[in-house]
Amino acid sequence: MREPTIFELSSNGRTGVIFPEADVPLAELPEKMLRRDLPLPEISEIDVVRHFTHLSHLNYSIDENIYPLGSCTMKYNPRINEETARMPGFIFSHPMQAIETVQGNLVLMYQLQEWLKAISGFHAITLQPAAGAHGEFTGVLIIRAYHRDRNDLKRTKILIPDSAHGTNPASSSMIGMEVLTVPSDARGNVDLAALKKSCDETTAGLMLTNPNTLGLFDENIQQVIDIVHQAGGLVYGDGANLNALMGIIRPADMGIDLMHFNLHKTFSTPHGGGGPGSGPVGVSEALVDFLPEPVVGVIEEAEEDLPPLYGFIKPAKTIGRMKSFQGHFGVLVRAFTYIMMHGAAGLRNASEMAVLNANYLLARLRNTYKVPYDRICMHEFVAEGRWPDAEGIHALDIAKRLIDYNLHPPTNYFPLIVPEALMIEPTETESKQSLDAFVDIMIKIAGEAHSSPELLKNAPHHAPVKRLDEVKAARDLTLCCGRTE
Ligand SMILES: Cc1ncc(COP(=O)(O)O)c(C=O)c1O
Repeated sequence: MREPTIFELSSNGRTGVIFPEADVPLAELPEKMLRRDLPLPEISEIDVVRHFTHLSHLNYSIDENIYPLGSCTMKYNPRINEETARMPGFIFSHPMQAIETVQGNLVLMYQLQEWLKAISGFHAITLQPAAGAHGEFTGVLIIRAYHRDRNDLKRTKILIPDSAHGTNPASSSMIGMEVLTVPSDARGNVDLAALKKSCDETTAGLMLTNPNTLGLFDENIQQVIDIVHQAGGLVYGDGANLNALMGIIRPADMGIDLMHFNLHKTFSTPHGGGGPGSGPVGVSEALVDFLPEPVVGVIEEAEEDLPPLYGFIKPAKTIGRMKSFQGHFGVLVRAFTYIMMHGAAGLRNASEMAVLNANYLLARLRNTYKVPYDRICMHEFVAEGRWPDAEGIHALDIAKRLIDYNLHPPTNYFPLIVPEALMIEPTETESKQSLDAFVDIMIKIAGEAHSSPELLKNAPHHAPVKRLDEVKAARDLTLCCGRTE
């Protein structure tokens, strides 16, 4: 049944506001300020509250149940993050204020840069990029600036493994780089022979997601990096999967030259609705001068016991500004809080538990769902949503049936190198009980796929919106359900 819109709940003359008696002479509003054509709903306060509370229950969030959306790291967002992000000193400050009046904000940004350096091993950090893909875009601009600065103008190609995230080729080609795909080998690693063949004097760099989108750590990572470096290229790390590595290995120590972080994934900022995110980029020493401006730093050393003055520094050969003001400051506060609350040992523990949880799910599901690259995974793994003896059943049907059991489906049809892919990432914040509950339903659905496939083909049965034509929904989106005028 279609949900009524707030306009349909409207009733002439009903109101949710009681204005106080006017204590000034009444005056007519200027006619040009009145929008008499606006069909504003007339509705009481309780009906407004009920309407939106009801709509919120139709949604799904990590606060309700496991959210195993592979590649998205939908971990619990600790409430203390929200408390700190709402502190008056932060929310009432303005980016145009004089730096002397916002030293607290600048210390927070500086300290976050330092912590991200310690976690990753990089030499310097920019906090500006608005999300992971924006970090990639920033990173490829830095790679291009580095080669141009050395007058090495023919390096116009970016190599991208076929197990990479889709944003990698998109970010590279937006900058005008030519994208070459490198295949994976049978174990899900970068194919070394193919990589060698693709590397030459036109290689600007390699964009490497590690762990990759199969959830696998590249077993030949050192050779991969060496091959690209020997050809004169740089290695860009897509650090969106850092949730598997924190406190265990530092990407810069492996020889990666620059990398973005997804603060909204690894460091727990809510991002289910598509943002805002934050995609800081860390760089090695050779790339520091190319960072976007400004970077937060100490601009005046302290006198005796006084704190130093923090401010903005312009890197010598900067690629310019990537975002207005200082990026998504509220996300920075949340990530700062998360890192501070966990400490070094806590971050390592989070990664270890994320890997353990994924391997537990893998172990319990691998006899029911085919896992094409079946080896110890990192924080996620990819299974196939199909069986030779369940004809006509696709990953999409399994995903839709999960909705009937009030579970968010895993990512499906990605990565592209696994047919009918179901990409499952539980994160560290799920308990054994919720992992078991998820597995039990997945096994039940596999049984239904064989015994009553129509249950899957017609799912979801209990959701307010039934099976959609996904192509039409993407091309012809109707956001105002029920509005006729
Ligand atoms: C591996 C990987 N790289 C890049 C991105 C892009 O990040 P964002 O969605 O913040 O732009 C994602 C997003 O989840 C990802 O999983």
